[in-house]
Amino acid sequence: MIMDENKTTIVVGGHFGDEGKGKVISYLALKDKPDIVARAGVGPNAGHTIYKDGREYGLRMVPCGFVYPSSKLFIGAGVLVDPKCFLNEVSVTKTNGRIFLDKRCAIIEQRHRDLDSGNKYLKEKVGTTGTGCGPANQERAGRTIKLAQDIPELSAYIADVPLEVNKAISSGKKVIIEASQGFGLSLFYGTYPFVTSKDTSASMAACDIGVGPTKIKDVIVVYKAYTTRVGAGPMAHFIDEQNIKEYPLWQEVLKDAKAKGHTGTVNEILAKHLGEKGTVTGRARRVGDFDYELAKYSAMINGATQICITCLDKIFPECKDATSYDKLSARAKEHISGIEKEIGVKVTMLSTGPKAEDMIDLRK
Ligand code: GTP
Ligand code: IMP
Ligand code: MG
Repeated sequence: MIMDENKTTIVVGGHFGDEGKGKVISYLALKDKPDIVARAGVGPNAGHTIYKDGREYGLRMVPCGFVYPSSKLFIGAGVLVDPKCFLNEVSVTKTNGRIFLDKRCAIIEQRHRDLDSGNKYLKEKVGTTGTGCGPANQERAGRTIKLAQDIPELSAYIADVPLEVNKAISSGKKVIIEASQGFGLSLFYGTYPFVTSKDTSASMAACDIGVGPTKIKDVIVVYKAYTTRVGAGPMAHFIDEQNIKEYPLWQEVLKDAKAKGHTGTVNEILAKHLGEKGTVTGRARRVGDFDYELAKYSAMINGATQICITCLDKIFPECKDATSYDKLSARAKEHISGIEKEIGVKVTMLSTGPKAEDMIDLRK
């Protein structure tokens, strides 16, 4: 059989997670109509926020491709599964019948969550999400953890995900791999020890699903127009009382934020104004100027072929809801071309609002 053109795309986070991968995937699912959307990443520590029919969803297990009813949805073997969270989301998203998880997914139990939240080092020093992912991955490496195939409640959802996905790829079908977290949180390449319990790069996302590197056509690395980080760990260009004077753009954002009556430190005011609050934990995210150095290094390790920039409207409110490049302001265009030039990878998508349709698509 002659293989059709390979169309597999990985969408991955280029900074510290929460770049808006969920929103980007919801757009791609509606626009590109993929046959399969497969979720990769660590597990339910990730929250992908999307909107469908006016309703907000913070998805921790179900792939965001659920917005397109004809996509088959998979969760790869590398992903940790919290059965209660999974079953609840399947019910809320009404995806029963088209969602499957790999029989080898490792299972998070209550004791993993207790170990995560009760461990001072993890909870206070690393600032984990408390969702049990770290302790579960630890146990998985210790080879004593339960797998999805051992859980009777999951029996209706069990599949051989690599077999299904590779068969689809070979017959020319369109597959999107949905990564979670972000590059700076990688156990291998991030700001260790302030990282998650696994690598978070595109290669790991492919491995999570069981797809070989030769089968990947595009890697879309997603960055916010600025940088955010939730949990502990270093963050370059964190905006504070002193250095804000060096950033005219941030001074302007702060002015708008204060006009709304937000209070606290400069960074807290900015975070409140920009709505930067963790999807899973509700913790405030720290706000920083765009971290070019991290972005460039992350594009290299991810093998980026395209860049998507999200939340443009948050720092350039005049760009809100724009769906064509000409509608963007000169300062927003300058910001975008600066990122493209510095990283050396084409910016192909620009997100101007939280809804799937708030997107400027520059792909050919
Ligand atoms: P993780 O896998 O947890 O890293 O999540 P994620 O990359 O899917 O991002 P998450 O949904 O946690 O956070 C992104 C936030 O920004 C959400 O609240 C989205 O609704 C919002 N968002 C995404 N893109 C845009 C955008 O272009 N404009 C605005 N205003 N909000 C956006
Ligand atoms: P853990 O993954 O829960 O062990 O948390 C380790 C670190 O990764 C903490 O700093 C978390 O805040 C961060 N983290 C884990 N998952 C996400 C995510 O999806 N978005 C943003 N930060 C995350
Ligand atoms: Mg998130």
